[in-house]
Amino acid sequence: MSADGFSGGPPPGVRPDWTIDQGWEAYSQAEHDVWITLYERQARVLQNRACDEFLRGLDALDLHRTGIPDFNRINEELQRLTGWSVVAVPGLVPDDVFFDHLANRRFPAGQFIRKPHELDYLQEPDVFHDVFGHVPMLTDPVFADYMQAYGKGGQRALSLGRLANLARLYWYTVEFGLMATPAGLRIYGAGIVSSRTESIFALEDPSPNRIGFDLERVMRTPYRIDDFQQVYFVIPSIQTLQEVTLRDFSALYERLASAGDLGIAQIVEGDQVLTRGTQAYAEAGGR
Ligand code: PHE
Ligand code: FE
Repeated sequence: MSADGFSGGPPPGVRPDWTIDQGWEAYSQAEHDVWITLYERQARVLQNRACDEFLRGLDALDLHRTGIPDFNRINEELQRLTGWSVVAVPGLVPDDVFFDHLANRRFPAGQFIRKPHELDYLQEPDVFHDVFGHVPMLTDPVFADYMQAYGKGGQRALSLGRLANLARLYWYTVEFGLMATPAGLRIYGAGIVSSRTESIFALEDPSPNRIGFDLERVMRTPYRIDDFQQVYFVIPSIQTLQEVTLRDFSALYERLASAGDLGIAQIVEGDQVLTRGTQAYAEAGGR
């Protein structure tokens, strides 16, 4: 995740690339316990809900051993698997800094962990969202390449003034993506896998629309940052996601400059509708 705008320089104590030490030794037992509670809950909820790539990555990284993982330890395995690493940051970082890290196969992760009364929801990404949610998918070679390409694409979108459109691609894939598999719908988005309630809502609730992924359609669709999504987009595979984003976005960006945004819960001609949602949850006022 990133904050808006260009970097004005990091606050005191933060390196020029906005990284900090994780300070693993300084976590308290109570903080490790929050991780363990969240981990155990999610590991259970995600059986038969998360995609195989995610579950395999979770196993490969052995993220539950000691509570909050030491980034140095994860990085040995991650480097070996896909050449990625996790770096600690104090919170949201400026867009250009975020993209530079991704383009160099570094994932910026929050260092702090949520408080025991925030288990189900918090606004800012913490170490559980960033590491449990995002890092398992980075063990998949194709997804790892997609994330790096996104970083480079982000730098380009910034210079072309189309970041608002590209950010929707990130949101509806990396954060809130679903995948159609022979065994049924599965989750790969980090914002979903790191939330117990949204893991169930995204797959099973009748409220949201579930629509086949289409790049231009996604880039025209606004999103919610403060509640469950009203629409989820479904990819056939990570491979397909990588293929459709590989091509040059210049022509697409030009079309988007004049095409208007769609309504968040709108269904349009050409949509491959998997679920026509009732929108009952959003209409009842949501969270
Ligand atoms: N192909 C995109 C471009 O030309 C870059 C990109 C790749 C963006 C992958 C997102 C994901 O700008
Ligand atoms: Fe995230």
